[in-house]
Amino acid sequence: MSDRATAPASGAPSRTAAVIPAAGRGVRLGPGAPKALRAIGGTPMLVHAVRAMAASRAVSLVVVVAPPDGAADVRHLLDEYPLADRDSTRTDVVVVPGGETRQASVRLGLAALPDDVTAVLVHDAARPLVPVDTVDAVAAAVREGAPAVVPALPVADTVKQVEPRTGERAGEPEPVVATPERAVLRAVQTPQGFDRRTLAEAHEKVALEGEGATDDAGMVERLGVPVVLIPGHEEAFKVTRPLDLVLAEAVLARRRANDGF
Ligand code: CTP
Ligand code: MG
Repeated sequence: MSDRATAPASGAPSRTAAVIPAAGRGVRLGPGAPKALRAIGGTPMLVHAVRAMAASRAVSLVVVVAPPDGAADVRHLLDEYPLADRDSTRTDVVVVPGGETRQASVRLGLAALPDDVTAVLVHDAARPLVPVDTVDAVAAAVREGAPAVVPALPVADTVKQVEPRTGERAGEPEPVVATPERAVLRAVQTPQGFDRRTLAEAHEKVALEGEGATDDAGMVERLGVPVVLIPGHEEAFKVTRPLDLVLAEAVLARRRANDGF
């Protein structure tokens, strides 16, 4: 077992928290409320995401990172949609304001963690339907000593590296640079699980230009710390574009129908 994942001192309490970055605007989803507040099956995406984290027995604290000027609204919203009964007594939910990039938002979420938290799951609010089994599997792998654990799936499409044409040149044909062998590629999901100190160190030391890091594990890789993948789940897909909302509604409807029998 890695010493990175051991408790701070013998007998010291230790627990697992989830940080949910939910501060994005959802530009690719189109006009409307901030993405995390858009409804699926009548319930805001963020509420689904909080419930998915709280449903894991491993998680005893959830830190929601709200839009920078929207923390009070998000707090009120979460109070309107309580967690499922069996979870409400043992999972605390804290709301903090986020930042301009996902990386900044995660960093602000980490800063709100109490000292006794030794393991952290970072989960996109934009992945509202992740099954609890996936959350449990990530948390278990971290508790067993892996410093960084990521759920992932094989990619369906062949992926090409290009010279991007953006800004004034957007829409022009893009020259292809390389075609990585599809069999060695994986599409990564969240929750990504970390030893808390390892993730905090990554957020202190790794600074990325522009949009910042889109993936926490990528920052940990830059520290030279090993990152491992475990099987992800189709239903942990990210709601990014309008068609993803259609899929999310269908997945939820199927779940509700199955639960009825
Ligand atoms: N996120 C965040 N703070 C930001 C930007 C993004 O907390 N400044 C969060 C989003 O709320 C989302 C997750 O990071 O839960 C993944 O980001 P993405 O899917 O890109 O969401 P948005 O940034 O909201 O969407 P878009 O890029 O289309 O604007
Ligand atoms: Mg974004």
